[in-house]
Amino acid sequence: MELGERDPVTGRHTTGHEWNGIEELETPVPRVVLFFLAATTLFAIGYWILMPAWPLGVSYTKGLLGFDQREVVTRQVRDAAFARAAWTDRIARASFEEIAADPTLMRHVREAGRTLFADNCAVCHGVKGTGGPGFPNLAAGAWLWGGDPATIAETIRIGINSTHEGTRVSQMMAFGRDGVLTGQQVLNVGAYVRSLSGQSLSEAERGRLAAGKEVFAANCVVCHGDNGKGKHDVGAPDLTDQFWIYGGDVQSVHTTIYGGRQGYMPHWQDRLSPVETKLLTLYVLTLGDRQ
Ligand code: HEC
Ligand code: HEC
Repeated sequence: MELGERDPVTGRHTTGHEWNGIEELETPVPRVVLFFLAATTLFAIGYWILMPAWPLGVSYTKGLLGFDQREVVTRQVRDAAFARAAWTDRIARASFEEIAADPTLMRHVREAGRTLFADNCAVCHGVKGTGGPGFPNLAAGAWLWGGDPATIAETIRIGINSTHEGTRVSQMMAFGRDGVLTGQQVLNVGAYVRSLSGQSLSEAERGRLAAGKEVFAANCVVCHGDNGKGKHDVGAPDLTDQFWIYGGDVQSVHTTIYGGRQGYMPHWQDRLSPVETKLLTLYVLTLGDRQ
């Protein structure tokens, strides 16, 4: 078909191209496409004039509006740092009691504390601080070393059985494995330990109580106390409550007494600032509120 011929169906001119009987019509670019092309070009030109746009070697065209994203970010960062410094300063200076009595500061403690706890502590103590096998529940109020703020802050700073030179040392000896007690004595004292927290005992366990009590008096009271309520100065847990680090069932108690336990809590002196430690201490103390 010749160039300029009309297509009999649409009545349009053809371009003259033909492929195996299929011809190309000469269809103009739709108006709407031209319109958007013009509109975006105008927008681009306007943008170049108003905003920073073209590089000029060492400088660039600044634009009539004088907008500078770096300035905006710098200002935002400065404002945030300033707001933070205002309350972190107050937290650094105030005593634990003063902070606890100040609702605004405690709001910061809860917010910043939650993040710090999730980042550093939740892997072991759980998101809500309720612990798990081998990791104590920090929300229970059953403290190994004591629940006053200064003690908690110190535990966080130096850790337990950690690599810090001043670390707290937690030693529950391996009474069975090291041969301090016979197998039978371990069973007996295990039954007695379980009775302390009022657990229901089997017939066999009840038969071991009297002997177990003697073993306890001779070997355990030095750390766990005459009544089994634990001693903060050696980090020995209260054996009469419902909270267990390693478990209060027959098997877990036996494993603890036979093989001993040495919990490991890293020290945070090098990783957290004093203010962060203070925040976390107060945050840890709020964990019990939700119980
Ligand atoms: C690697 C696991 C691990 C991490 C991480 C960890 N802890 Fe611990 N934490 C422990 C263990 C285990 C104990 C108990 C040690 C023991 O059995 O004597 C403990 C004990 C504690 C105690 C003492 C509780 C008491 O009853 O006296 C506090 C307080 C504490 N952790 C707070 C924290 C805080 C705050 C963080 C985060 C900065 C943290 N822990 C991170 C494992 C961990
Ligand atoms: C030198 C001090 C010391 C002596 C003695 C001692 N304990 Fe302990 N015991 C501890 C400490 C510290 C822990 C906590 C261990 C840890 O978590 O790191 C502990 C933990 C335990 C637990 C685990 C509690 C839980 O919450 O899971 C049991 C059970 C226990 N001791 C029983 C005994 C019995 C029974 C004896 C005597 C045969 C005894 N202990 C003697 C210091 C002692």
